[in-house]
Amino acid sequence: MNTEGERLQKVLARLGFGSRRVCEDLIADERVTVNGDIAALGRRVDVDQDRVEVDGAVVGVRPGLVHYLLNKPTGVITTADDPQGRPTVVELVPDQPRIFPVGRLDGDTEGLLILTNDGDLAHQLTHPSFGVEKEYLAHVDGVPSRAALRNLREGVELDDGRTAPARVTAVEPGLLRITIHEGRNRQVRRMCDAVGHPVRRLIRTRIGPIVDPRLPPGGWRELSRDEVRSLEVASSGGREGEAPDRER
Ligand code: URA
Repeated sequence: MNTEGERLQKVLARLGFGSRRVCEDLIADERVTVNGDIAALGRRVDVDQDRVEVDGAVVGVRPGLVHYLLNKPTGVITTADDPQGRPTVVELVPDQPRIFPVGRLDGDTEGLLILTNDGDLAHQLTHPSFGVEKEYLAHVDGVPSRAALRNLREGVELDDGRTAPARVTAVEPGLLRITIHEGRNRQVRRMCDAVGHPVRRLIRTRIGPIVDPRLPPGGWRELSRDEVRSLEVASSGGREGEAPDRER
């Protein structure tokens, strides 16, 4: 038996799967595989080398780093700590290790949000010069004219300056798919307000290469290794837009 590396239950506990006891039960229940084989209790792993899966989902990228994808419901605040005591996004994912949201969605916006303790990736993703695409579905009041759509595409004048060109398509009357690179406060809502079509419902459906139409509101999962890698590539100016293999 491999006597090097870290004990599997310790690794899983650090990644947020529960106490070591709970993680031992996961292993005993044969829900954990290492490099495709069901793991035995006492198994040691090298998180950089070994491929660990729980219930078929790959876990862990680098020791101690976790990356969650959350489908944020409305009414939940994007912060690690709300002084007013409102429900927060961090309460929807495991509380250990401590993580923080990458960027923000308004309280009344739904959809994909990444939470991580990976400071480098978070910095890259939120840095304006790296410009990772974010795609939204916006249900708006009324039916925007071609001129309004063109305006949204070319850039609208907001009180903090003109918006950069955006990709905007009418999916159906009153429903827009809007893709932006910037991350200004309430940007999509303010853009739609500016062309006379206030947003009624806003859903973020993609962050760079990351999509997950099957994640239910309030649900979360770990990003796969490939997904984290693809985010790193996209946020350092690489190609994006192709959904990576979720390794499931
Ligand atoms: N644009 C908005 O208006 N709100 C969000 O939450 C995200 C983008």
